[in-house]
Amino acid sequence: MKLANIKREWWKEAVVYQIYPRSFQDSNGDGIGDLRGIINRLDYIKSLGIDVVWLNPCYESPNDDNGYDISDYRTIMSEFGSMDDFDELLNAMHERGLKLVMDLVVNHSSDEHEWFKQSRQSRDNPYRDYYHWWPVEKGKPPARWSYFDKKGDAWKYDAQTNAYYLHYFSEKQPDLNWENPTLRKEIYDMMHFWFKKGIDGFRMDVITFISKHDDYPEFEAAYQNQNMIDMYAQGPRLHEYLQEMHSEVLSHYDIMTVAEGPGTHAHNVLDLVDESRQELNMNYHFDHQSIGVGPRFIINDDFQNLVKFKSVMSTWDKALSTKGWNTIYFGNHDFPRMVSRWASDAPEFRAAASKMLSTYLLSMRGTPYYYMGDEIGMSNIKFDDINDYNDLMTINWYHLTKEEGGDTQALIDSHKITARDNARTPIQWDSTDNAGFTTGKPWLKVNPNYIDINVAEQQNRQDSELNYFRKMVNVRKDNLILVYGSYTLLYDEHTQLYAYTRELDGKRLLVLLNFSDQMLEESLLEGIKIGNIVVNNYPEFNFDAKVFKLMPYQAVIVNILD
Ligand code: GLC
Ligand code: CA
Repeated sequence: MKLANIKREWWKEAVVYQIYPRSFQDSNGDGIGDLRGIINRLDYIKSLGIDVVWLNPCYESPNDDNGYDISDYRTIMSEFGSMDDFDELLNAMHERGLKLVMDLVVNHSSDEHEWFKQSRQSRDNPYRDYYHWWPVEKGKPPARWSYFDKKGDAWKYDAQTNAYYLHYFSEKQPDLNWENPTLRKEIYDMMHFWFKKGIDGFRMDVITFISKHDDYPEFEAAYQNQNMIDMYAQGPRLHEYLQEMHSEVLSHYDIMTVAEGPGTHAHNVLDLVDESRQELNMNYHFDHQSIGVGPRFIINDDFQNLVKFKSVMSTWDKALSTKGWNTIYFGNHDFPRMVSRWASDAPEFRAAASKMLSTYLLSMRGTPYYYMGDEIGMSNIKFDDINDYNDLMTINWYHLTKEEGGDTQALIDSHKITARDNARTPIQWDSTDNAGFTTGKPWLKVNPNYIDINVAEQQNRQDSELNYFRKMVNVRKDNLILVYGSYTLLYDEHTQLYAYTRELDGKRLLVLLNFSDQMLEESLLEGIKIGNIVVNNYPEFNFDAKVFKLMPYQAVIVNILD
């Protein structure tokens, strides 16, 4: 790989840090994180060395799905503050050289959005075609699966006009009708509104779902229930809409875009991100997250299958090795804490395991998306009681399982590992009440381990997870090879070791990661001579000319000698 042949872009070289505002920092004691809270923590955010903040939705919302149900796209959620707070936040970030990427949620709105209130009033309302309606005279609409519906049904009957409306998510999140050019224009105008304020990009929520199949045909048997996700992502006009969005809006600004891409796979991702198509810069997929995780997020034995994980990640790297650009992530607000899901949160391993996973995220090709709190190794809260949950997804699936006479305990047990609320517990700032997150009652319980695991404790401790993360961000910044270098997987069948080389302009780095709680010893491969250590999450690295040893969850990056 030659740097001279690569099109360098700021968003390829950036490290993105995701903030879920509800759980980051409360500033007024109502138990809910807010924009002022983020402003107050900007020095911390800057100290991480990251470049871009992706902020989850902070628009006006009745919060059926914590801000992913938007009732006004141009207003700040009252719980989070005001537009003045937003403007101040954006300014203060730019002053510190940080960029801000917002969430764009335009597959659906809230049912409390003015558009929907109008739309449901009469069949001839001017806003009727802003949404998808199916009149009862046509009989029952063809089945559509819903993530968050109480019954899993994406069609909701609405008596007022005697018709069903479509909602891939909760019944309070009706899907917008992109087939309608007036709706598309509204969305593009709204995007210009935010870009004119100076934001630096959008993360586009389930953007792969915006084009629906004409007349809502029945899907083949293979695409029933949750498998419909793949069909949802193949609406016939998706790429036409994205190209239109690109020419109408995106091409006018120096910004970055990333699709949340359920239903994208290595074989079709280039349709979204091949730069010559003029659609989006990046996409993030779910192929690794779904390893060992079945319907309703019930896990099976494959859940931490390293060989499968390596294969998925290597396939994705290859798909984007000459065109487009990849993304790398473990945690976000929809997945559990990375250390609990991908390694171990057992007290004796948690710190090393967190550092190992940070090493991985920051040494792969593709832009890393790093979730707040992972830098201090926060772990899953593992609620025992369904009443502790806030997330409508876990709650609905629990009730559905109960109604069916299914195994609710199995659901609770799996959700201790997989539930979204595990990642939404408040950030653990210090060991004072409520971890310093709020002086009031937090909207979601704080993980009791905050007494030991918190920012204040790690801030100045040299060997903390936090300082390791900062160091690893610098290692990536100092080594363009980690950004642009080619990636080659080694030992692909190894069940504990994830090892690869990165190569740029003839220089090679070797990354060795022990993804297990056992020590391991392996022979070095032909042609690989270990040189200087670039980074190591343990004090020592044990190797000679032939073999190397790794401690549980040890991570090492070394130079390869010629
Ligand atoms: C995306 C969001 C998720 C939300 C859903 C519906 O998957 O990341 O949090 O619930 O879309 O908007
Ligand atoms: Ca607050």
